[in-house]
Amino acid sequence: MRFDLVTIFPEFFTGPLDFGVLRRARERGLVEVQTMDLRSFTYDRHRTVDDRPYGGGEGMVLKAEPIFAAVESLALPAKGERTGDRVLLLSAQGRPFTQAVAQELAALDRVVLLCGRYEGVDERVSELLCDGEISIGDYVLSGGEIGAAVIVDAVVRLLPGVLGNPDSARYESFGAAERHDGAKVDGVPRSTYGSGGLLDYPHYTRPESFRGVSVPELLSGGDHDAIRRWRRRKSLEKTLRNRPELLAVADLSPEDQSVLAELRRAAEPVPE
Ligand SMILES: C[S@@+](CC[C@H](N)C(=O)[O-])C[C@H]1O[C@@H](n2cnc3c(N)ncnc32)[C@H](O)[C@@H]1O
Repeated sequence: MRFDLVTIFPEFFTGPLDFGVLRRARERGLVEVQTMDLRSFTYDRHRTVDDRPYGGGEGMVLKAEPIFAAVESLALPAKGERTGDRVLLLSAQGRPFTQAVAQELAALDRVVLLCGRYEGVDERVSELLCDGEISIGDYVLSGGEIGAAVIVDAVVRLLPGVLGNPDSARYESFGAAERHDGAKVDGVPRSTYGSGGLLDYPHYTRPESFRGVSVPELLSGGDHDAIRRWRRRKSLEKTLRNRPELLAVADLSPEDQSVLAELRRAAEPVPE
C-alpha cells in the first residue's frame, strides 16, 4: 500500500513515521509513504500556497492550484473513476475516522491525504478533486498533518504482515465485529473471538504486585476459559462505563447480553 501526504510541512512527518511498527512496516516494504511539499507545485517567485478569503474574514485559505498540481502529478484516475485509490482531504467537517474506516482504507492500494492549514482549503479541492473529507475528531487542529499521521498509523497496523500476530488487531478495542452465527474459531464462539466492537480488556505484566495493587489471581491460574470470560466481562464493563453507545452496534453473544444485564443491574442506584 502507498500513502502520499500533501503538506506545506513535509518535515513534520520525519518524526511520527520513523518509529516502531510504522518504521518496520516501511523498512519491510509493506507500506510506502511519500510526502509531497505543496510549495514544489507553485510557479511564482514567492512559492505562494495561500491567499485571502473571498467574502472577507480572518485568516488565509490554501489555494486550489498547487493542490491540484500535486495530485495530478501522481497520475491517478480522475475523481469518480478511482477504484483502488482515494484522495481524501483532512477536515474537521469530514466523515469521522474510525476503526471501520481504517479497515476500509487498509483494503486500498493508494491513499492521498491532503493536509489543510490556516482557515482551510479552497472548497473546489473537495468538490472536484477529492473522494471525501475525513475528520479525526470533533475538535479543530491547526493543520491536517497530525490527522494524516494518525490515519497512516491506524491503517498501516491493519495491513497483512505488519503486526507479528495477524489476529492482534481483532482483539484490540473496536476489533472487527463478526456476526454471532454460532460458528466457533479455535473452539471459542466466534462473537467472543476478537473484541467484536468493544473496548479492550485490562492488561497486566510483572511485577505481580505494584503499589498495593495485585494482578487478578485468575490471570496466573492457567484456566483459559475463565481468563477469556473474565476479559470479556472487563471489556463489557469498560465499554458500558466509557462508551455505552458502542454496545448498540457491538457483536454480543447471549452470554455477553446476560453479563451486560448483570452489570447494568449492579450500576442501578439502590432504592431507599
Ligand atoms: C484551523 S483548521 C481549519 C478549520 C476550519 N476553518 C473549520 O472550522 O472547520 C486547518 C486545517 O486543519 C485540519 N484539521 C483541523 N481539524 C481537523 C480534524 N478534526 N480532523 C482532520 N483535520 C483537521 C484541516 O486540514 C484544516 O483545513
